[in-house]
Amino acid sequence: MAEYAKPRGTADILPDDALEWQFVEKTAQQLFESYQYREIRTPIFEHTEIFERGVGDTTDIVTREMYTFTDRGGRSVTLRPEGTAGVARAFVENRLYGGPLPAKLYYNGPMFRYETPQAGRYRQFYHYGVEVIGTDDPRSDAEVIEVADRLLRTMGIESFGLELNSVGCPVCRADHKVRLLEHLEPVRQDLCTDCQERFEKNPLRILDCKKDGNNPTVLSAPTITDSLCDSCASHFAAVKMYLDAMAIPYQVVKTMVRGLDYYTQTAFEFVESSIGAQSTILGGGRYNGLIRMLGGPDLPGIGFAGGIERLLLARAAHGLKSASQNHPDAYVIALGEAAREASVRVLHALRQAGISADADYSGHGLKAQLKTADRVGATFALLIGDDEVKSGTVAIRNMATKEQTSVNEVAVVATIADHTGRQG
Ligand code: HAM
Repeated sequence: MAEYAKPRGTADILPDDALEWQFVEKTAQQLFESYQYREIRTPIFEHTEIFERGVGDTTDIVTREMYTFTDRGGRSVTLRPEGTAGVARAFVENRLYGGPLPAKLYYNGPMFRYETPQAGRYRQFYHYGVEVIGTDDPRSDAEVIEVADRLLRTMGIESFGLELNSVGCPVCRADHKVRLLEHLEPVRQDLCTDCQERFEKNPLRILDCKKDGNNPTVLSAPTITDSLCDSCASHFAAVKMYLDAMAIPYQVVKTMVRGLDYYTQTAFEFVESSIGAQSTILGGGRYNGLIRMLGGPDLPGIGFAGGIERLLLARAAHGLKSASQNHPDAYVIALGEAAREASVRVLHALRQAGISADADYSGHGLKAQLKTADRVGATFALLIGDDEVKSGTVAIRNMATKEQTSVNEVAVVATIADHTGRQG
């Protein structure tokens, strides 16, 4: 057993796996940019109150999942458990609201939550996500959902379901809260400890509690979706109309309220059953009060984030794997002492010309080095022995056809560039 093990709930992404990660990250980046989103990078830790205020101090994330510590200057800082609050803070602090609106931003990077690890649930995990800040037009809700839908499909995942709801605004929530508490009062004592706490502070979340969600009284509770004010109801109707216009299928799930407090109106989750119990592959929603809560102007926002690990689990479950191994175009083989200097020169010249090249430092014989060239998938092996040194040439061996030609050392770069279509 290894002497030192990584912390629980974290992962090493080894070179073979990193290829899949690169594929997913690059594909997401290209897609976001084609929808005219621009990248934003915010710190991995923030002042703790950004999350307490932004995500909500009664949420599971804030009450028990944050990595919070006091730094040497005595300030409380927290490793970001999610990206939206930090992006909102950066939007306000850097006055992005003075620029063109809506600001369409995307990001990816590690997030940290002290959760019980299991398949698809980790303590360090990676988000890719977008935020659109500065419009409450329901077309932007539909666009954000469309980006998420397209992203999953571009990754080869088609079997997911889209669950949609509206969680209303402070106006309809106040009304709904009164009716909900009245309805739940008779079973209040039977609810789990968390829900008893939520009862006063955030009763809406009792509806999607994993423990109490199946209690018949909770099941028959009035949903926020049925209590929307006129403006939230027409917003929700418009979002559905635009999704219909794009033929994006969805299912309204009235009990889905999401686990972060900043949501208003549209809330959605993409669910992919192939990845096991942690089946929410991506989630998001509208947050019309967040920018103001963090000291900015009263601007609405909407966005989503998905976990890269869950995306990769889904791709693996569907047998999808990107084939993009990074093979060298040229593999330089030096045979004997005298060839070493020429081999260094040739390798340097190839690399300077932008050709993907590597060399064997083993000092083994020709057969063993050719075997390695084969194993690494080289297109050409460049052989330099005593004869080549004497004549100032290099033998170029096509690894697929085994054909071998001899060229002058100064012509090596041009010859390889010509054959591989790379720049010479
Ligand atoms: P969230 O639902 O907390 O939303 O996280 C989004 C996604 O991150 C989840 O659907 C899941 O795929 C992944 N995820 C969450 N926790 C873990 C974990 N412990 N291990 C692995 N993957 C995980 C947010 O974070 C919001 N900021 C999304 C958003 C953006 N809403 C508006 N804008």
